[in-house]
Amino acid sequence: MADNPDWKFETKQIHTGAAPDPVTNARATPIYQTTSYVFNNAEHAQNLFALAEFGNIYTRIQNPTQAVVEERVAALEGGTGALLLASGQSASTFAVLNIAQAGDHFVASSSIYGGTYNLFKYTLAKLGIEVTFVENQDDLDEWRRAIRPNTKLLFAETIGNPKINVLDISSIADIAHEAGALFHTDAVQAAAHLPIDVRALGVDALSVSGHKLGAPKGSGAVFVRAGLPFEPLLHGGGQERGRRSGTENVAWAVALAAACGELAAERRTERGTERGADFIERVLSTVPGSRLTGHRTQRLPGHASFIVPGAGGETVLLELERRGVIASSGSACAAGRTEPSHVLTALGLTTDEASAALRFTWTADVAAAELEASVTALAAAVHAVRPQ
Ligand SMILES: Cc1ncc(COP(=O)(O)O)c(C=O)c1O
Repeated sequence: MADNPDWKFETKQIHTGAAPDPVTNARATPIYQTTSYVFNNAEHAQNLFALAEFGNIYTRIQNPTQAVVEERVAALEGGTGALLLASGQSASTFAVLNIAQAGDHFVASSSIYGGTYNLFKYTLAKLGIEVTFVENQDDLDEWRRAIRPNTKLLFAETIGNPKINVLDISSIADIAHEAGALFHTDAVQAAAHLPIDVRALGVDALSVSGHKLGAPKGSGAVFVRAGLPFEPLLHGGGQERGRRSGTENVAWAVALAAACGELAAERRTERGTERGADFIERVLSTVPGSRLTGHRTQRLPGHASFIVPGAGGETVLLELERRGVIASSGSACAAGRTEPSHVLTALGLTTDEASAALRFTWTADVAAAELEASVTALAAAVHAVRPQ
């Protein structure tokens, strides 16, 4: 498909995978609303079915719109091909189950989204795949020590949730490769903010989620380095060239491509990072007793999480909302759960301290005045709920 090695990120996110329509020369890829495709002649049909020639046979097997979106998502991080799936969680599941099977072992950081933690701890255990969790993902020796002869994979989030530190994924990929294993990174949180050059960093598989990139909930994608196992988890309808059975949501896929295009502008700006550094300093100096969780500088732009002891995260959230500021306590993905984040307790925080976690997020185009207003609102909210 159309791609050009000289294209920069912004161009790739708008044009990768798409070729102008040969009849009309229209630039944009249409949403192909067709179930069937015309064969030029009997030989053409024969070659398509024999997979001797590339082309479209029937929409249940492939859809050209989806194919364009997959190339664009792969271009996000320098990959060559991706597979669209229903969510970030299903994307990680697809990759891990392709790499590890019953009797295998893998190592995962414990600083991961609670849903993935549960997937590994319960579902994969039921399938006979054993996991060892690394408590301090920055400790490379802990990763090395966890490896066994049957370790097939090392797994970590590019930006650990909810500590939101940027991980040294290249060193962990090296450790995996030295042990003859593969490395998967969950870039669900990171993809919107950071370039992750999968080739330069040694990433073998990577997952993203549509709703973290600005697309609707219910889309995600995985890519796996060329040559690695890429078998369908479900044999059935044979959609997506047989790689993923189940009728796909083409509209959501198109939304994902549009979100990738918008990312081009978001990722370009450093402003979110600078404003974030100011915001962190202002919170720490204005809200008595507040502490930052995670690294001061090696962190995701647009996120900051704090412990505000003695204030009770959920109560502060209500007070903040009354003042027009929407934040979350701990990981938003684990919202609704009453127990504190396992990542925060693993950092050595007590249950009370972990329950006093507050997480703020903002987009790259945030105004300095908006962040300053949030600091003022936070100081007032904490003052309102703390026993005087
Ligand atoms: C780091 C991380 N991985 C995976 C997921 C799951 O993605 P999805 O909600 O698309 O299944 C989330 C949260 O939504 C997340 O924060």
